[in-house]
Amino acid sequence: MDVRTALLTRCSPPKLVEPAPDDAQLEAMFTAAVRAPDHGRLAPWRFLVLRGAAREILADAMAADLRAKRPEAPAEEIAAARGKPLRSPLLVVAYAAVREHPKVPAIEQITATAAAVQNLWLQAHAMGFGMLWKTGAAAYSPRVKTALGVAAGDTIVGILHLGTPAAPGTLREPDVASVVSHL
Ligand SMILES: Cc1cc2nc3c(=O)[nH]c(=O)nc-3n(C[C@H](O)[C@H](O)[C@H](O)COP(=O)(O)O)c2cc1C
Repeated sequence: MDVRTALLTRCSPPKLVEPAPDDAQLEAMFTAAVRAPDHGRLAPWRFLVLRGAAREILADAMAADLRAKRPEAPAEEIAAARGKPLRSPLLVVAYAAVREHPKVPAIEQITATAAAVQNLWLQAHAMGFGMLWKTGAAAYSPRVKTALGVAAGDTIVGILHLGTPAAPGTLREPDVASVVSHL
């Protein structure tokens, strides 16, 4: 698939099922991810792979986070929160290992990591896999970070769901003219 086709056909599928990318296929995605632009060549991106039962570490942390924030939340709501990361066969937590740098502020290390996520997504799409880019309260929760071994000063940029699209997603038709202006 050429780059333009990948760019213009990528979208979020409604549901992801097996097969998920295997380790060699994931490696191809990470190799594409780390080609992202990187101010200062800090390689701020980190990718934590949660396959199979390992997804439960995140599921348990998300449930515990909700329980701690809203002790009155009904058991069904907590079970639903716990179930969300288990819906897809493979998860990759993409985060920026942010460090102090005289010329590269945290925002640039985070945006570089977001660029790496997009590279990963396009590579996955070109290989026939689907991806969903999620964040939500989990990504910003100190409790979830601790459970995943992500340092407090690091930033989770995406909880990436990977697998095979159960059905095609709906392509958006963005209005390009409304976002471009000229001085
Ligand atoms: C930084 C970031 C965070 C996102 N977080 C979520 C999320 O928490 N839940 C979700 O359903 N989608 C999330 N998305 C995915 C977008 O909602 C999705 O890409 C958007 O709906 C556009 O659809 P498309 O991917 O099919 O073009 C996120 C995307 C980005 C870039």
